[in-house]
Amino acid sequence: MKKIIIDCDPGIDDSLAIMLALQSPELQVLGLTIVAGNAPVEMGFQNAKKVLKFLNRLDVPVYAGEAAPRKREYVNALDTHGADGLGESFLPEVENQPIPEKTAVEFLSDELRKGGVSIIALGPMTNLAKLVDTDPEALLMAERIVSMGGNFRSHGNCSPVAEYNYWEDPDSAKVVYAFAYEHQRMIEMVGLDVTREIVLTPEILEKMITANPVVGDFVKKITKFYFQFHWEWEHIRGCVINDPLAVACFLNPELLSGLEAFTDVETTGISLGQTVVDSMGFYRKESNARVFTKVDTIGFWELFLTRILQISKKQVQEEFREVYLEKNQ
Ligand code: RIB
Ligand code: CA
Repeated sequence: MKKIIIDCDPGIDDSLAIMLALQSPELQVLGLTIVAGNAPVEMGFQNAKKVLKFLNRLDVPVYAGEAAPRKREYVNALDTHGADGLGESFLPEVENQPIPEKTAVEFLSDELRKGGVSIIALGPMTNLAKLVDTDPEALLMAERIVSMGGNFRSHGNCSPVAEYNYWEDPDSAKVVYAFAYEHQRMIEMVGLDVTREIVLTPEILEKMITANPVVGDFVKKITKFYFQFHWEWEHIRGCVINDPLAVACFLNPELLSGLEAFTDVETTGISLGQTVVDSMGFYRKESNARVFTKVDTIGFWELFLTRILQISKKQVQEEFREVYLEKNQ
């Protein structure tokens, strides 16, 4: 089993990613570390607990991390994720789940130092940048660092050129990519170029409910607000579920392809939060990022649906093929 820590800001798509990770037998989820992002850190902590309770996995520890970006003012994304950060599903609070004394960054440091642990980062990189400050040796021991964030040729979702996770805290993203450059490491960047291909449509959702009413209803509950948001703002029928693709990338890297390049993050001005991917080698700097540009969407849906619905690949191929092919016709 591969040991991972999911650093996240639940968040609707973070929740779907947590569901995928915990239903994947190849993974041992050592814990969830929460960062301010979609929702304030305390709300994200509770939302993580709500998802773990639904999965009957309250054994997975959750730690609270940084409550604000490294330098900028904190800007949440509750307009996208709903007032409760979970699609206004208003699930009941999970009782007796105090926030641990140990911080997210302390937990990351302790676990990474044991070796053989990877990070799947689904939110702003504030916790990871804090770890660079406090214990860079621990981060050096991370086996893989997969980040949902950034964009190469796809337009932004927070500005014409910036994706939310790196826009909300560009200074932290810059610190982490600089750390990777300094130590010849590769950040696996699962950005909008590929996540925009992963659209949960009403048709897929309805078939999920048929295949597994309990899980399907839960997914419907937490995504209905997201559907409305996507229609109003991006005129998309359905919702882009970004974060599960980062987990899928960790589980099966073959699902994604792209390029290796030196990548930096702009931290000021009109293009703040933009990932500058030097695909042509202008800066003559070693690559510090594997930037994905193509995704096997059918391979993703077969992985995602079999795992979270607990159904066979054959059943997915028979029941879902015509609906998830729709996006790609
Ligand atoms: O831009 C999309 C990313 O920002 C996703 O991880 C979403 O959950 C938010 O964190
Ligand atoms: Ca997220």
